Amino acid sequence: MNYGSEIEKVLLTGKQIEIRTQELADEINRDYADKELLVVCILRGGVIFMADLFKRLTVDAEMDFLAVSSYGAGTTSSGEVKVMKDLSAPVDRKHILVIEDIIDTGITLSYIMEMLSARKPSSIKLCSLLDKPSRRKVDLFGDYVGFEIPNEFVVGYGLDYDEKFRNLPDVCVLSPSVYEKNN
Ligand code: XMP
Ligand code: MG
Repeated sequence: MNYGSEIEKVLLTGKQIEIRTQELADEINRDYADKELLVVCILRGGVIFMADLFKRLTVDAEMDFLAVSSYGAGTTSSGEVKVMKDLSAPVDRKHILVIEDIIDTGITLSYIMEMLSARKPSSIKLCSLLDKPSRRKVDLFGDYVGFEIPNEFVVGYGLDYDEKFRNLPDVCVLSPSVYEKNN
């Protein structure tokens, strides 16, 4: 796919993501073979990955959605997390799998994992399409991770910059000129 000057390069193609998503689904299907799974998608970045993963699940699976405040228009974490939309049902006795687009500092996700753990699910695990381990500020790891990526700001396949680029079929590195213009 050819993009304009706002995109520096393609980091992961839609095809690479599709192959890796199937591998993750295979693992999840094995691990939850005899369990009922509640897939919790973190809106909005995780939604495309969740949908592609969810249709590959062969175990009993339900989905729910959680929205928290994120970076806003910038590209660095504020450290502030606010629940904008909560789950629609209680999670006690459910096996939760949280689906996120990217683990960056880990601040947002550790808050989410603690909040959901406090509701006493049967188990809770984390699945993230991307992981930027070099940026971690808290002790958090993904149980299922699609790809480790370098410390570059990425967009596409659900990930946004200022709500744009979520519709790109690939994960791409954003040109620094885009956010230098705004910051
Ligand atoms: P933390 O830092 O708490 O935040 O792990 C995770 C959230 O930050 C956003 N994020 C990004 N979004 N490209 C994006 O489009 C990136 O490179 C990026 N890094 C972090 C993302 O919303 C994620 O849920
Ligand atoms: Mg985001």
